[in-house]
Amino acid sequence: MFNNTHFPRAKKFWYMGKLYEWNHPNVHVMSHALHYGTSVFEGIRAYSTNRGPAVFRLPEHVDRFFHSASTLYMEVPYSKEEITEAIKLVIRENKLESAYIRPLLFYSFGNLGLVPKFSPVELTIGVWDWGAYLGEKTEKGARVYITPWKRVHHSQLKMTAKLGGVYVQSAICGIEARSQGYDEAVFLNLEGNIAEGPGENIFIIKEGVLITNDKTESVLEGITRESVLEMAKDLSLETHVGPITKEDFFQADEIFFSGTAVEIAPIILVADGSNPQEDKKEYTIGSGKAGDITKKLAKAFNDAVRGNIKEYEKWLSYVYD
Ligand SMILES: Cc1ncc(COP(=O)(O)O)c(C=O)c1O
Repeated sequence: MFNNTHFPRAKKFWYMGKLYEWNHPNVHVMSHALHYGTSVFEGIRAYSTNRGPAVFRLPEHVDRFFHSASTLYMEVPYSKEEITEAIKLVIRENKLESAYIRPLLFYSFGNLGLVPKFSPVELTIGVWDWGAYLGEKTEKGARVYITPWKRVHHSQLKMTAKLGGVYVQSAICGIEARSQGYDEAVFLNLEGNIAEGPGENIFIIKEGVLITNDKTESVLEGITRESVLEMAKDLSLETHVGPITKEDFFQADEIFFSGTAVEIAPIILVADGSNPQEDKKEYTIGSGKAGDITKKLAKAFNDAVRGNIKEYEKWLSYVYD
């Protein structure tokens, strides 16, 4: 029933302190989170290095997981240290060299009133061998669609938290972008500026300056984003954090997505579908191919996560240490 077709090489998952075979069902269909999106999650990657698999920026991901949990008033049933160890254990048990790691905290079975008074918080961790989120577009560049739906605003929900329910908007707009013939969606925020992708941050490059926005623009300030900003400075690139208007976006020399799932993926075409009353208009970005600075940063990122750059080894947690 629960095969691993779309979870390559997943054999076991961790659930409340125990490991289960992948096809083992153990959550009741009346669980609170299934009905109301009352869950929080993390997306983390481990990469193959010459010292075995290493998790990229694990403490930062675990800290954000707890931040998300507190936003949803969850009492986390495990400590940060226990969760860190459980993540490494699941990777070892699945014998993976590289992995996508998905920890999830959710209000489980108890009651179905909106307030989960009698629903315990439960934790599960899954790992599998997940390739780049946008597949071949990671090299070639993605064609994106600005959706008419504005990103949930930071005055409505804490957008620095990874709340399951917020990803309903991501799912809807991801489906919509693909149904319009594009590879991924891009959200504007309520101010009309560029916010983020459904699960990605956005960088633009103009005249050699790397620009990205921050949480005041209703985005999740990603851990990859922060790593890219640090690597860019080390490469002597000028960086700037501030709002990105639609015009800045269309006139950028280069654009790319950053995120754990997507890694670093160039954007080569933007379709503006933000006003459903008007025909959508397409803009080619730069030469219509992945730009040089994007490629340089992608290379630095790919080397850093695999332990090939000494100064960024501080970001790696080795699974077998
Ligand atoms: C909405 C959203 N924005 C941005 C990101 C990028 O964050 P990170 O680099 O920490 O994966 C993610 C992924 O976690 C996300 O879901």
